[in-house]
Amino acid sequence: MQESKITYLDNVDRLNSYLRKNFSTSSSVIFVDSKVSSEYKFDENFNTHEILINEETKNITTVEKIWEIMHSNSVTRSTNVICIGGGVLCDVMGFATSTYKRGANLVLIPTTLLAMVDASHGGKNGVNNNYGKNQIGTFYLPNEVLVCVEFLNSLNKEEINTGLIEVIKAGFIGNSKILELVYGDDSLYSDKSLLQLAIDVKTKITKEDLKESNTRMYLNFGHTIGHLIESDSNYQISHGQAVGIGILIALEISEKEYNLDQSYRKNYMTFLNNSGLKSHYKFQKTKSELIRILSNDKKVNNEKINFVLLEEIEKPILKEVDIEQAMELIINE
Ligand SMILES: NC(=O)c1ccc[n+]([C@@H]2O[C@H](COP(=O)([O-])OP(=O)(O)OC[C@H]3O[C@@H](n4cnc5c(N)ncnc54)[C@H](O)[C@@H]3O)[C@@H](O)[C@H]2O)c1
Repeated sequence: MQESKITYLDNVDRLNSYLRKNFSTSSSVIFVDSKVSSEYKFDENFNTHEILINEETKNITTVEKIWEIMHSNSVTRSTNVICIGGGVLCDVMGFATSTYKRGANLVLIPTTLLAMVDASHGGKNGVNNNYGKNQIGTFYLPNEVLVCVEFLNSLNKEEINTGLIEVIKAGFIGNSKILELVYGDDSLYSDKSLLQLAIDVKTKITKEDLKESNTRMYLNFGHTIGHLIESDSNYQISHGQAVGIGILIALEISEKEYNLDQSYRKNYMTFLNNSGLKSHYKFQKTKSELIRILSNDKKVNNEKINFVLLEEIEKPILKEVDIEQAMELIINE
């Protein structure tokens, strides 16, 4: 099984040296999130293109602009396409690179906590369109992922919390040591060894099931309910906040279904409260409206939904329930 090489770098100076040493300027093109290039300085010898990107422009129009840049810079399959940005740019560049001439050497340099521990690993990419978020995409592993923690210095609290929730998710589904570390000191998020533990959980799972036919769905722990909360609130509740509550509900259901020790939920709730994150959400929409939203979710097949619960800590399990039954579990919380 093919794997991405992952390298950890302390700061942007070291990242620049690494790029100079390992990638020739004549066969590399850099695409950088314009918010990131306004904060950090990169080697000017590289052919660099700033991309103004956000969730609204994560679409095929932006991909076409990127293909155009690739074409005018004579990108070939042996070109190093280097992406420096958050999860949105990593997803867009992954898709644009995998489809332009059927692929080049993709190097992802994630600049948000979420992208460092999650979006840049495992080869999933995608863009949004009328059918929904990330509905158009491919599986295309980056050759390399360079994790440089200095980028975290310029993120706001909301972006950090969004990433931290994914770090905690990795703790629940794959390595409870992560939970001890984060609950002990939530400013540890920029610690390389903590990031590495979370990244190891993701890459171990995606290595076993790249195409999400089974165990990769464990990474959706807390997300099905999280997406429902985001949608129900008309996106007034942030992604991190929504998944944070989604995890809490999934823990509660796991207690009912599998007798999961209540201490995991209690400790997690204390963390949410101490971090200023919400621990409760009251749905606005009716049950039938919520079912319609769940039915549009890509995790739904033939009126069934794959729900990720914990049998035990570090032992996620996929429970296939019909949508009606799932709603009972969620709304009755
Ligand atoms: N492919 C996957 O496996 C996967 C997994 C999880 C999430 N995702 C995707 O990731 C996306 C969310 O990613 P995100 O949370 O990183 O959002 P993002 O990429 O939109 O970044 C958040 C904001 O921070 C800015 N930014 C990025 N790096 C910065 C830095 N170092 N300093 C200051 N500002 C910075 C961005 O310009 C943006 O405004 C979603 O589209 C989601 O679908 C993909």
